[in-house]
Amino acid sequence: MAKVLIIAGSLREKSFNRQLARAAEARLAGRAETEMLEYADVPFMNQDVEFPPPEAVERVRAAVRAADALWIFTPEYNYSYPGVLKNLLDWLSRPVVPGERATAVTAGKPVAVSSCAGRSAGAGSRAKLTELLRAMQAVPLEELQVGVSLDGAAFASDELPLTDEILAGLDAEASALLAAVAA
Ligand SMILES: Cc1cc2nc3c(=O)[nH]c(=O)nc-3n(C[C@H](O)[C@H](O)[C@H](O)COP(=O)(O)O)c2cc1C
Repeated sequence: MAKVLIIAGSLREKSFNRQLARAAEARLAGRAETEMLEYADVPFMNQDVEFPPPEAVERVRAAVRAADALWIFTPEYNYSYPGVLKNLLDWLSRPVVPGERATAVTAGKPVAVSSCAGRSAGAGSRAKLTELLRAMQAVPLEELQVGVSLDGAAFASDELPLTDEILAGLDAEASALLAAVAA
């Protein structure tokens, strides 16, 4: 069974993107093995501490290496993805040994991208993340990306309204991701 590593680009406990990620995990049940990547302990990228890599960095790199595919759920912060997610991806993009050619651990991995955000539904964030993933030699799915636009009621309750349309979108995105793994 394919292994899908789920990454939420928000550290917030009640994060809508985490809620969407958990819904996607539930939709993948029986079709793939899933794991949610926890990375709050990954330090800020600083080339002074790059080698040997901090333990948390070794752990997240190992999790990505072991996965057949990734599924990233990103908020939109000022038309882009949040700094915590960029920091994680920067670490994943670097060589493991000093002087070695930088081969990102994401190279060749299919990556699905989804988002929960305000009015934009995260369109800007997903577009920029897709571009970044391509630069990291990953294979982002571009045609199918679930984007959820949150309204005032959702923000007030901190509860993601999981509509049939969203669930159908997750199913379609999951199928596309698994097809990319099998290709
Ligand atoms: C610094 C900051 C900037 C934001 N900029 C945007 C934006 O440009 N477009 C948008 O649709 N939502 C924007 N938002 C709203 C977030 O996308 C929204 O709160 C989202 O739910 C956060 O994700 P989370 O619930 O997973 O933590 C911004 C929020 C923050 C904190």
